[in-house]
Amino acid sequence: MSNVIILGAQWGDEGKGKIVDLFCGRFEFVARYQGGHNAGHTVQIGDKKFILKLIPSGILHPGKRAVIGNGLVVDPAALLNEMQSLTAVGVNVAAQLSISNRAHVLFPFHRTMEHMLDAIGTTSRGIGPCYEDKAGRRGIRMADLLDRERFGAQFDALAADKGIVARAFGVADELDLERIRAEYEGFAEQIRPMVCDTARLLNEAIRAGKSVMFEGAQGTMLDLDHGTFPFVTSSSASAGGACTGTGVAPTRIHAIVGVAKAYTTRVGGGPFPTEALDAMGDQIRQRGHEFGSVTGRPRRCGWFDIPQVRYAAMLNGLDSLVITKLDVLDQLEKIPVCTTYRSGRHEVTDMPATAAGLEALEPVYECLPGWRTSTQGVSRYEELPLQARDYLAYLENRTGVEVGCISTGPERNQTIVRRESRFGKLFT
Ligand code: GDP
Ligand code: IMO
Ligand code: MG
Repeated sequence: MSNVIILGAQWGDEGKGKIVDLFCGRFEFVARYQGGHNAGHTVQIGDKKFILKLIPSGILHPGKRAVIGNGLVVDPAALLNEMQSLTAVGVNVAAQLSISNRAHVLFPFHRTMEHMLDAIGTTSRGIGPCYEDKAGRRGIRMADLLDRERFGAQFDALAADKGIVARAFGVADELDLERIRAEYEGFAEQIRPMVCDTARLLNEAIRAGKSVMFEGAQGTMLDLDHGTFPFVTSSSASAGGACTGTGVAPTRIHAIVGVAKAYTTRVGGGPFPTEALDAMGDQIRQRGHEFGSVTGRPRRCGWFDIPQVRYAAMLNGLDSLVITKLDVLDQLEKIPVCTTYRSGRHEVTDMPATAAGLEALEPVYECLPGWRTSTQGVSRYEELPLQARDYLAYLENRTGVEVGCISTGPERNQTIVRRESRFGKLFT
């Protein structure tokens, strides 16, 4: 029995969905702990592609219990939509899914607020404004939504607040508050059977010897506290979030695994020291199909950043790294890796606290030889070309974290597990 957190070690989209789906077989529960439908986790099974947004990627395994923890912000319309498309392909969502009665409810006016105020290139889902209402202690939680009387009064108070802002911006006509209220009363009845105290559910399961996989969304550098503020999301995407976002204590967590691409991408604004704004960056975008799974936006592409991943390893206490999308680098003759940053003549080894501070740094690269042969679908470590193994060993040595698993394609079987690693012992 072990409880494991799987999270993004970069700026999101590292391939968490594939890894969670692949390894959740030996866990009874898979729990999301933060974020909302800003996430887009891709699971590819044969020629079928699923993009999970609010629902944990483990739901695709029959019988697996999936939990939406208290740390999430839930747009009921998006949730019901996602449930419907999973039900249509035979997933028994109603039986498998539980939703925290303490998760916050996202309303259309959160999106309206975001449209007016977004300065960082968000996913436009209203995530930030919903978390603002949570931190401002105005937010409405699942338990409130289900209590018709309470909900009416709380909704009126929250809506009055938003109405003032909307009028000030001249967009009050966009908000039909009576319609929204009636719609949400309807959502409540559809969601009610799945809502419960998921902290109790998970803790009782753990006490009974069952195990939980915690599925992070976004990535460590998008964490509200530790990421490249203010170009971050509004939740705790790093390991600590798994505890506050589910009500499972740190003493119950046995291992933490970081997922990182063999290079780096980010979507939206903000500093990105190793961004490749040249033909090489375009090549990676095309080969890696680096277009957002939620918004379709082209992802910014660049090179593996050792100081950044080392920082993420420290923040999360990573036990193991999964390196994904190795195959995307197959054609490159040389692969630059950022080993450190420089400011003028000074080496900088820490991550600056400000976005401007990080932007001012110059990445220092070492170029490693490419392998120029296909690694696509390779599932045994020994079958990787020597240069690819050297590349992985380099990342392992420089980040100080073992590379326990390597992904060589989007499908389940396109994966290498190093059995002798800590990761191998946890998952095989
Ligand atoms: P997540 O948000 O971390 O779950 O990642 P996304 O699903 O947003 O983006 C990862 C993309 O890369 C998806 O389209 C996956 O199907 C794909 N993918 C995952 N692992 C690999 C891999 O090893 N090689 C290739 N070529 N694609 C991969
Ligand atoms: P997954 O879980 C990549 C980015 C947005 C924006 C910033 C804030 O699929 O890895 P938000 O809508 O959260 O307020 O946007 O965070 N962002 C992501 N980038 N992957 C994600 O999720 C992301 N979720 C949010 O692009 O820069
Ligand atoms: Mg994604």
